[in-house]
Amino acid sequence: MLECIEYILFAFGLWTLIKGYLFAHYSFKSLRSNTDFSQYGLKSWALVTAPTDGIGLGFAEKLAFHGFNLVLVGRNYEKLMNLSKNLEQNFPIKTKSIVKDFSLSAKNSQEFFQDIKSQTEGLDISIVVNNVGYGADGPLHTVTEADLLNINSLNIWPVVCLTKLYIPGMLNRKNRSAIINLSSLLGTFPVPYGSCYSAGKSFISAFSLIVAEEACYLSRQKNTNIDVLTVTPGWVDTPLTKKYKNMPCLIKKEEHVEGVLKALGKVNYTSGHWKHQLQSIYAALFRDQASGSYAKKIKKVWKDSAK
Ligand SMILES: NC(=O)c1ccc[n+]([C@@H]2O[C@H](COP(=O)([O-])OP(=O)(O)OC[C@H]3O[C@@H](n4cnc5c(N)ncnc54)[C@H](OP(=O)(O)O)[C@@H]3O)[C@@H](O)[C@H]2O)c1
Repeated sequence: MLECIEYILFAFGLWTLIKGYLFAHYSFKSLRSNTDFSQYGLKSWALVTAPTDGIGLGFAEKLAFHGFNLVLVGRNYEKLMNLSKNLEQNFPIKTKSIVKDFSLSAKNSQEFFQDIKSQTEGLDISIVVNNVGYGADGPLHTVTEADLLNINSLNIWPVVCLTKLYIPGMLNRKNRSAIINLSSLLGTFPVPYGSCYSAGKSFISAFSLIVAEEACYLSRQKNTNIDVLTVTPGWVDTPLTKKYKNMPCLIKKEEHVEGVLKALGKVNYTSGHWKHQLQSIYAALFRDQASGSYAKKIKKVWKDSAK
């Protein structure tokens, strides 16, 4: 009997090791070499949602550095104008700003997203970064209707609708194209006290991975290539996370974006920076522990901020 238990424990340990190795191998494949951005088309356009601060600003700056013209979709006209001026002064690129408050996107979604698409008609859009997002913490019964609506309007609807609207044009491009969807590490396991955020991001990961498979199939038929990259960051220092102090492996937005862009075209999902890749591996192997420890931290921050 004891021998039998030993065999089972050994097999379980071996399986965990193999799973860990395979996941680590996949995760770190993305960090081995730099991405060749010319394959997406020199002087083509990248669209970034919520580009005036946080991770979105990191993407806008890095993509401008790599020579992409930029469509900036944000809610504040003045901030967009300042960003646009800064980018055009610092890099040899063009920008186009579109003012949109995504909290209104679920109201009349077809009109809302079609308007963005119409304003970019005629531009060679090669990369879409679905970055806009929103967080709400606390046990479900304390989450307000407004927060629930915002999670739907900022985290879910934009990713689904913009991905749907830009894929047809990408299928007709000769160059490679990409859609980068911001999910979260917190969407890879259940996070009590972050229920709607975690569940919403979990939807984004599932949606994005499925669309990646579809895009791969469609691209083969059309002899083109669309990379759909699902991004699951850990903690990144941005306005969204400013109340979460001393979180494990908190990194700068620039470090995060650099890791993500290195993964582009190589893998279907990434957490970006190597520190977050390690956190992902841990979470994949020890889901319950990750869930428990994140819930504890989020509960504490929620309690402190409710005081
Ligand atoms: N930060 C993290 O640790 C982390 C971790 C995992 C996943 N993520 C995901 O990564 C994405 C970006 O996160 P972040 O931390 O950079 O977020 P953030 O700090 O909230 O991003 C700020 C940006 O969002 C814009 N924004 C906020 N509400 C908006 C609205 N209603 N309509 C249009 N734009 C709006 C802000 O515009 P203004 O400048 O006008 O205010 C600003 O440009 C999100 O999807 C988030 O869920 C973040």
